[in-house]
Amino acid sequence: MGRPISIAVAGAGLVGKRHAEAIRAAGADIGLCAIVDPVPSGEALAEQYGVPWHRSLDALFSGEHPDGVILATPNQMHSEGAMACITAGIPALVEKPFAVDVGAAETVVAAAEKAGVALLTGHHRRHNPLIRRARAELEAGAIGRVISVHVNAWLYKPEEYFEAGWRREPGAGPVFLNLIHDIDVLHYLAGAIETVYAMVSSSVRKNPVEETSVIALRFADGVLGTINVSDTIVAPWSWETTARENPAYPPTNQVCYMIGGTHGSLELPGLRVWRNRGKRSWWEPLCAEQLTHDFGDPLVHQIRQFASVIRGEEMPLCSGRDGLEALRVVDAVKKSATTGQTTSLQRPLAANVSGTPN
Ligand SMILES: NC(=O)c1ccc[n+]([C@@H]2O[C@H](COP(=O)([O-])OP(=O)(O)OC[C@H]3O[C@@H](n4cnc5c(N)ncnc54)[C@H](O)[C@@H]3O)[C@@H](O)[C@H]2O)c1
Repeated sequence: MGRPISIAVAGAGLVGKRHAEAIRAAGADIGLCAIVDPVPSGEALAEQYGVPWHRSLDALFSGEHPDGVILATPNQMHSEGAMACITAGIPALVEKPFAVDVGAAETVVAAAEKAGVALLTGHHRRHNPLIRRARAELEAGAIGRVISVHVNAWLYKPEEYFEAGWRREPGAGPVFLNLIHDIDVLHYLAGAIETVYAMVSSSVRKNPVEETSVIALRFADGVLGTINVSDTIVAPWSWETTARENPAYPPTNQVCYMIGGTHGSLELPGLRVWRNRGKRSWWEPLCAEQLTHDFGDPLVHQIRQFASVIRGEEMPLCSGRDGLEALRVVDAVKKSATTGQTTSLQRPLAANVSGTPN
């Protein structure tokens, strides 16, 4: 048990409700203290948890002083909400995407660092015990030197998903909405992405935003990577449909990340390491070692880490900067797909994207 921590949730929609539940599940020393949302469903959620309801962050801060705030508001509100938290001196966990664009994210990160207020980004997969075990194995050299990584992210979003017009327009699409989580995992497991070459297509739905993208990556230490993402392919190979993080997606027992090294390969989310038993050779049999990991809802682990950061015990596992870095990669993908050129990532704010505390 640590010092009791009170957390307010701003945005009582789909994800805000999951955060409220995760706070309840996080332990007796962490409590939900308020719901912030301008619409009546916010009041209903506040009633359900027996906490005060506020229509805005200003109203929250004028009457209460939570230890932390979760911003589960629409993307366009993230920067404004984060700035309000920074001004109030209150640490915030900002849902992904950290901001709508790189410029806005840089402004927020710079303001937080100047004010000394901790920010986290809601790339919750870093908090999944299986990802943390994968990183520990890679660091321990379980597959030798990492040479290449591959991410498959094929999903099928049904027609009704696109009835909301914004989902058909630039600013939506599977790269920005979904793949940004995979990019953060790649940063965590393989280090900073330096160069991107991307092609996009929307040949089926013909919406202005992409439905499929193929992306080639170069990481800082020479590791190469490929990503194949689509929201118009019926397939079992995506994090959403394999990792069992969210019960909304019926799971398959398939693989979606492959990490290849000089002495073996790691498949995720199955957490199996493939190696030759003796001599390394394509003529020798390959054996799979099943690694184990703790279980637990990454959202709950994320809340516990947020509380530890608030208490000053830990650095954010996924900081505001990490959210900014994932946005930079998305931005580079868009630029490369538009220009047909390989795009190098510019990092005016020195980056630390691998999760090691600064
Ligand atoms: N981490 C994840 O896996 C994940 C998954 C889905 C969505 N998200 C992100 O979470 C955020 C919310 O997504 P959602 O699907 O819950 O959206 P939603 O539309 O279901 O809910 C958003 C809520 O925010 C409220 N809101 C709007 N303006 C507000 C303001 N100024 N202050 C407080 N509340 C305000 C709305 O009334 C609504 O209730 C988005 O940024 C989204 O990208 C993250």
